[in-house]
Amino acid sequence: MHIAVVGGTGVAGRAVVNESLNRGHEVTVQARRPNDRIPAAARFASVDVVTGAGLTQALSGVDGLIECGNAAGQRQGQLDAYFRTGSANLTAAARDAGVARMVLLSIVGIDKVPMKYYRAKLGQEEVLRNADVPCSVVRATQFHQFALQMLARMKLGPVSVIPALRTQPVATTIVARTLVDALEAQDPPGISMIGGPQEEYLPDLCRRLRAIIGGPRVIRLPLLGAAGRAIREGGLLLPDGPTGGPGFDDWLASLQD
Ligand SMILES: NC(=O)c1ccc[n+]([C@@H]2O[C@H](COP(=O)([O-])OP(=O)(O)OC[C@H]3O[C@@H](n4cnc5c(N)ncnc54)[C@H](OP(=O)(O)O)[C@@H]3O)[C@@H](O)[C@H]2O)c1
Repeated sequence: MHIAVVGGTGVAGRAVVNESLNRGHEVTVQARRPNDRIPAAARFASVDVVTGAGLTQALSGVDGLIECGNAAGQRQGQLDAYFRTGSANLTAAARDAGVARMVLLSIVGIDKVPMKYYRAKLGQEEVLRNADVPCSVVRATQFHQFALQMLARMKLGPVSVIPALRTQPVATTIVARTLVDALEAQDPPGISMIGGPQEEYLPDLCRRLRAIIGGPRVIRLPLLGAAGRAIREGGLLLPDGPTGGPGFDDWLASLQD
């Protein structure tokens, strides 16, 4: 199958590209800019989902699409541009190009935790699930690399202010396997969930990571209001408990290899 991985240069996207290549698929990595981590066996096509630039050409001849991209920032305008406008552009281009099937990477708990980013992701799910091209949604818990992303994103001078999240971190290899399974399967489109082997606490993950890679000191940010309550009640965890795969400490150990 010819698979387009939108956001294929990102954290999740890279794992999806590798998984797809390992299964013998033809892969086109799609993002605005290439980076030096695109495998030689994959092609790159420059697209901008927000403006629609490059999409028609890049999706020509593609059988299946896996959407793993992300908004450029957390401001409402940036979230709407990627998740609403971008999803409308992507689904229209996929339909016009004759793409047979799509899979969207989403997040466990976005329907339970009322936060701006999660509302935008719910909007993206809605656009893709109502598209003319059948789309399955795979909701994942936070990746192991989320701790690394948060240390950088939440840096304020000498500290990183890390939200007090209960989380169940998952390996991107497991997420990628689930996404490619969903694309290959002929099941009717629906929503499935995937998560890691145990519950963790995000500030603690960031401290364990910092002990290895250094960087800013970690300060815990208590979460207030309805979103804080939903997260304390386990809204970002898998409802049916942990699943398998490598844990966060396995990932930390892999960084030291
Ligand atoms: N991080 C987590 O723990 C986690 C957990 C569960 C689900 N998710 C979801 O998984 C998705 C991917 O997250 P990630 O952390 O892997 O993202 P990421 O590392 O930030 O990668 C984002 C990707 O999107 C591309 N991109 C950004 N703007 C684009 C545009 N306008 N047009 C085309 N491509 C664009 C980026 O490349 P360019 O900048 O070169 O365009 C990059 O390839 C997100 O939707 C996120 O909500 C994340």
